[in-house]
Amino acid sequence: MSNITFTMIKPDAVADGHIGAILGKIAEGDFKIKALKLTQLTVADAKKFYEVHAERPFYGELVEFMSSGPIVAAVLEKDNAVEDFRTLIGATNPAEAAEGTIRKMFARSIGENAVHGSDSDENALIEARFHFSGREIF
Ligand code: CMP
Repeated sequence: MSNITFTMIKPDAVADGHIGAILGKIAEGDFKIKALKLTQLTVADAKKFYEVHAERPFYGELVEFMSSGPIVAAVLEKDNAVEDFRTLIGATNPAEAAEGTIRKMFARSIGENAVHGSDSDENALIEARFHFSGREIF
């Protein structure tokens, strides 16, 4: 796999009924869906997925929130996928996100910020493999 990124539609956006609209923005952005599922992280899954943030003051809150309800996990393909997807979703804090970005349109707050996007090609692969087996990625 190359030119991929990994995303989650987070529990806030799923609960707020934004799955369809966010998948629409992803399609408009010319990303191809390679894998997709509705699932829920256990507390242990969320701790492991976000372990790079274990020392941050918001880690406990982040783990609790990310395991609090269903998410949509997806692997997306496009040239320059990681950077282009981060542009599409906007800044981590929706108050600072550009107009028209997914976080500006759908996020509740910096913690409950609607979507995740991988921060590097290396992490995109690690995150995709964390959530999907080989036979679930097309
Ligand atoms: P994400 O892109 O999924 O990666 C790490 C997450 O930590 C980030 O999105 C935010 O949801 C969360 N996060 C970052 N900074 C803060 C903060 N100051 N307070 C609460 N959550 C945060």
